[in-house]
Amino acid sequence: MSALLSLRDVWIEYGDRIVIERLSLDIEAQSFVSVVGPSGAGKSSFLRLILGQEAPTRGDILLDGEPLTPECGPDRGVVFQRYSVFPHLSVLRNTMLGLECPQAPLMGRLFGAARRAARDEAAAMLEAVGLGHSLDLYPAQMSGGMQQRLAIAQALVMRPRILLLDEPFGALDPGIRADMHALITRLWRDYSLTIVMVTHDIREAFSLGTRVLTLDKRRHDPHAPHRFGATVVYDLPLNNRSGPAASEDGSITID
Ligand SMILES: Nc1ncnc2c1ncn2[C@@H]1O[C@H](COP(=O)(O)OP(=O)(O)OP(=O)(O)O)[C@@H](O)[C@H]1O
Ligand SMILES: [Mg+2]
Repeated sequence: MSALLSLRDVWIEYGDRIVIERLSLDIEAQSFVSVVGPSGAGKSSFLRLILGQEAPTRGDILLDGEPLTPECGPDRGVVFQRYSVFPHLSVLRNTMLGLECPQAPLMGRLFGAARRAARDEAAAMLEAVGLGHSLDLYPAQMSGGMQQRLAIAQALVMRPRILLLDEPFGALDPGIRADMHALITRLWRDYSLTIVMVTHDIREAFSLGTRVLTLDKRRHDPHAPHRFGATVVYDLPLNNRSGPAASEDGSITID
């Protein structure tokens, strides 16, 4: 099986500062990749690369064997640690927004049947993330966990194949975090998603992921800290039972 996403000798440099170096990596469809590493290692930069928000200074990124298009494509959705939702829009309108923009770029609003279809799709996705009874609330009226559910619905309503999560649960209480772990595992399975999740929580990385990547520098120059960039220093495949179609013996089959 060829990889969904391939990075080939990718570098990110800002002037003479090297952030990522020699990054080569294949990501299989429907894997759940956890990314850990020290602060400043370049984890968010790595996600921005996959999102297409940032072009590598050198190297190639392929999606399905084709060069990744710059700009966020509908293939990729993203959820950040802090809320990316719009405070002046209701839960339902926040979720419909992405469906409306590509179809009606000039007005940003749909009418008639198209609007009803977008509304139904958004409402179904909100139901799937557990916000089925909160369609008319505004973000300020919701807890942090509910706002992250909304951010996930906003990303998933666009039906991305790859969901990128940048410390999505980092600001949440432990109890709420456990609920969110159950939710993301279910959505990953139900929507056959490929997930790349950055986290500072090692337990979270191992309990959710089918693979854990550690980004860090291999080489340090104490006199010039920016001379070397980070790369994948550990790449651990996991036999994760929570994965798609985990069988009794714990092995994973993805069909
Ligand atoms: N536009 C930019 N110009 C210059 N340097 C940048 C730019 N964006 C990021 N950097 C630098 O790249 C390095 C990696 O940043 P990044 O945000 O990717 O790290 P991170 O691993 O996500 O860190 P954290 O765990 O704190 O979120 C940092 O040293 C940062 O200062
Ligand atoms: Mg970061």
